[in-house]
Order: sequence, then C-alpha cells, then structure tokens
Amino acid sequence: MKIWKWGLLLATILIVPLYLTFTVLPDRVYAEHNHESHEHQALESSPDHEILEPRVPAGKMAETKALKNIVAVNAKTLSEAREIFTGKGTCYTCHGEKGKGDGENAGSMNPAPRDFTYTPWQKLRTDGEIFWAITNGTAGGESGMPPFGDMLSDEERWTLVNYIREFGKTGGLANNSSIKN
Ligand code: HEC
Repeated sequence: MKIWKWGLLLATILIVPLYLTFTVLPDRVYAEHNHESHEHQALESSPDHEILEPRVPAGKMAETKALKNIVAVNAKTLSEAREIFTGKGTCYTCHGEKGKGDGENAGSMNPAPRDFTYTPWQKLRTDGEIFWAITNGTAGGESGMPPFGDMLSDEERWTLVNYIREFGKTGGLANNSSIKN
C-alpha cells in the first residue's frame, strides 16, 4: 500500500471517533441531563414538593425501607384498624374519617394533615416509611404529625399502615361500609 493510503486509513480511523466524541455524544448526554433537570424543576416548583419530600431522615432510610409489615390484610384486621383510626388513635380528628386530610382539627394546620387518597404520595412511600411516621411523628413545618410509638403497639401501627393503603385504592376496604366496627 502507498504511504498516502495508510495516511488516509489512519485519518479515517481517528476522525470517526473524534467526530462522535465532539458532536453526537455530547448532544445525547446533554439531552438526558436536560430531561432530568426538567423533571426535577417540575417537582421543585409544584405544590407537591413539600408533601413528596421524604419524612424519614436520610441516615435511617435504608433500615426503614427494609421493614416488613407483620400484619396480614383482611376484613378482620382492617376492621380493627378502622376502630383505632376513628377511636383511640385519634387519627380521624386530623386526617378525617375518609383519610382526605380534612378532619375537624385540620383547618388551622400548616402543613395540612396528609390526604391518604393522594396517589402520588401513596406510590412514593413504602410501608416502612408510613410506619416510621406513625411511630415517630414528622416535624412538618408549623404543625406536624404527632408520634404514636408510645401509645400504640407495633401491631396496631402496622395495621394502620394497611388501613392507610386502603384509602389509596378506588373502592378500597377503608371506604367500604360493609366493614363493621
Ligand atoms: C393532631 C393532628 C394529627 C393526628 C391526631 C394524626 N396526624 Fe398524621 N399527620 C398530621 C399532619 C399535620 C401531617 C403532615 C405532617 C408533614 O407534612 O410532615 C400528618 C402526616 C401523616 C402521615 C404522612 C407522613 C409522610 O411520610 O408523609 C401519616 C402516615 C400519618 N400522618 C398517619 C397518622 C395516623 C395513622 C394517625 C393516628 C394514629 C395520625 N396520623 C394522627 C396530623 C395528625
């Protein structure tokens, strides 16, 4: 092969990757990055931002997410949960009987008591995080969620987690009048 042909070959081998490195690839990386930051911005500026922010401190998150619910979901346990929710647990006074965050004490609260029918919140939180909030309470802002770790047993708090999940389902058992107290 002539020396100029070697030169041409070498140039082709070098030029193609260089071309890709400086043109196509950065565009892609930038596009992906941009996409992410748009989503991030959407969350930042939406009123959901505060609600969807984790309540469990970062250092406790892994162990909290690993927690497993020890109470089975059935008509009996959900009925017991309703009794706690609308009775000695006092949850309904803030969260409302239907879990919409509109209990009699909710009016003056900022942030408002959580609306358990709000599906983006339901999707984001694990059972462990809900259990953690019931146990330890959350600081929130001016108002917060009080802790129930001393007042309710582990079983009682786990069964409340199941009950709260029912509020997130259309036609969930928590809204079903066939459950008797
Ligand atoms: C005195 C009013 C009050 C009572 C009583 C109350 N809560 Fe709350 N709860 C709140 C408020 C306010 C928030 C929102 C706090 C925040 O945004 O951090 C909240 C938030 C929550 C959350 C959401 C935490 C998260 O990670 O987003 C859960 C779960 C919860 N409450 C469960 C319960 C259960 C179960 C009971 C009854 C055992 C109960 N709450 C009783 C006021 C109350």
